[in-house]
Amino acid sequence: MNYTKISNDDLLNWLKTNLSEKRFQHSIGTAETARDLGIKFGLDSEKLYIAGLLHDCAKCFPNEKLKEIIDNYLDIEEAEIISYKTWHAPVSAYIAQKEFGVEDEEILSSIRWHTIGKMNMTDFEKIVFLADKIEPKTREQSYIDLIAPYIKEKDGLNKALLASYKETIMSLVKRDLKICFATIEIYNKLEERLNVN
Ligand SMILES: [Fe+2]
Ligand SMILES: [Fe+2]
Repeated sequence: MNYTKISNDDLLNWLKTNLSEKRFQHSIGTAETARDLGIKFGLDSEKLYIAGLLHDCAKCFPNEKLKEIIDNYLDIEEAEIISYKTWHAPVSAYIAQKEFGVEDEEILSSIRWHTIGKMNMTDFEKIVFLADKIEPKTREQSYIDLIAPYIKEKDGLNKALLASYKETIMSLVKRDLKICFATIEIYNKLEERLNVN
C-alpha cells in the first residue's frame, strides 16, 4: 500500500537533501527498527517503516522556520513551545502531510507525538516512539541496553516505554531542566499499570 504520494526513492532523496548525514542515518535506523518491531508485534511493518523514515523530516529546519510553521499553521500547547527541541515533531507531521501526501492518521499521530509521547498511545505510536530511542545506527549502545531488553518481556512495549521515561526524567533532573507535565502524567500512568505496590 502507498502511504505517501511519492516513491520511496524520492522520499529517501528528499531526506538525504534536507537532513544531516547523522540524522539521515538515524531516520533509516528508526524506520528499520520500527519495521522489525512491527513484525514482532504483528502490526503493519511497512507503515511503521514509513513513519520511522518521516518522524524527524523537519528536524534540520532552522528554528525560525519551525516556529514560523507552528505559528501560522499549527495549534500547539504552550508547554510544548517552551523547548525548541520538541518543535520538529508537530512540524514533521505537518510536512509529512503537506509535502509527501501522508493521510494515514496513525502515521501522522506517531510522528506528531514521537518526542514527548502522549497518554494512551497505540502500539503503533509506542513502536515509533521506542524505535526513535533504540535504533542502533546512531543511538548509544549503553542507552539501548537500558530500554530494549524490556521489549522481550510480557507487556514489553509498556515496560520499555516506562524505562525510557525514567531515563528521560532522570536526565532532565540531572541537567537542571524542567519536566513537562505530560511526561510526569505518562510516567505515573505507566508506573500504576506496571508496578502495583
Ligand atoms: Fe525527533
Ligand atoms: Fe528521531
